Amino acid sequence: MTANANGFYTERVTEVQHYTDRLFRFRVTRPQSLRFRSGEFVMLGLPSDGKPLLRAYSIASPSWDEGLEFFSIKVPGGPLTEKLQNIKIGDEILLRSKTTGTLVHDALTPGKRLFMISTGTGIAPFISIMRDPESYEKFDQLILSHTCRLVSELQYGFDSVAATKDDPLIGELAQTQLLHFASTTREPSAHQGRITSLISDGTFFTALGLERFDPAHDRIMLCGSMDMIKDVGAMLEPMGFKEGSNAEPGSYVLERAFVG
Ligand code: A2P
Repeated sequence: MTANANGFYTERVTEVQHYTDRLFRFRVTRPQSLRFRSGEFVMLGLPSDGKPLLRAYSIASPSWDEGLEFFSIKVPGGPLTEKLQNIKIGDEILLRSKTTGTLVHDALTPGKRLFMISTGTGIAPFISIMRDPESYEKFDQLILSHTCRLVSELQYGFDSVAATKDDPLIGELAQTQLLHFASTTREPSAHQGRITSLISDGTFFTALGLERFDPAHDRIMLCGSMDMIKDVGAMLEPMGFKEGSNAEPGSYVLERAFVG
């Protein structure tokens, strides 16, 4: 399908999975002409009476996948997600043809370890990146970190890591190069606490058996709550990390997870 005159694709929902009363995952058909870099986001939404209602959504599937996957929050009273959470297989959704974002390999200088630090739905772009063979070529090690309020909110991350390690294309690479760290802040679990505290007190590194951050060879991507991004960014700068962009790659990049 090609984009219509307004630059929209109309695609069909192919899968919907509700994880909690706040989170769900869905897949849609991919327009053949839609090209994107793993980690980017796209404007997605629903037809509505007047103007289409759209929000920015990180694509959670890799660029080689024939479908498109998304991970969404359900915001009570949220103009789009109130409706989007009711989608069923076969329903139509709208996609803009342009994709963009800073959580991409192009915005980082070469390094050895790639840390992908997320909270909530901020894990989505990293699910795309950890399924991309390029990530395993560019980095010796990929570390996916996901912090949520509740244990049930971590499930999408666990499922995606398991599927990645089982994938015929990248499974073998992921089994040796991909590490996963998950923590909760409002319920006990294997690792409890905000990622900021777990980084500062060293728990994060001890749990993974890794050396602490070193700007010489570590690259970091941040995605999730605005406050988390700001606070982790403020910890990284004094260590010597420099924020990167597509125009000027650096040692860390960030993007807030979109809601609505
Ligand atoms: P907390 O439960 O202590 O607020 P949300 O669901 O509100 O988007 O938050 C997702 C996760 O991000 C929660 O576990 C939350 O912890 C955590 N979080 C919120 N603000 C910060 C921050 N400034 N630094 C680190 N983690 C944060």
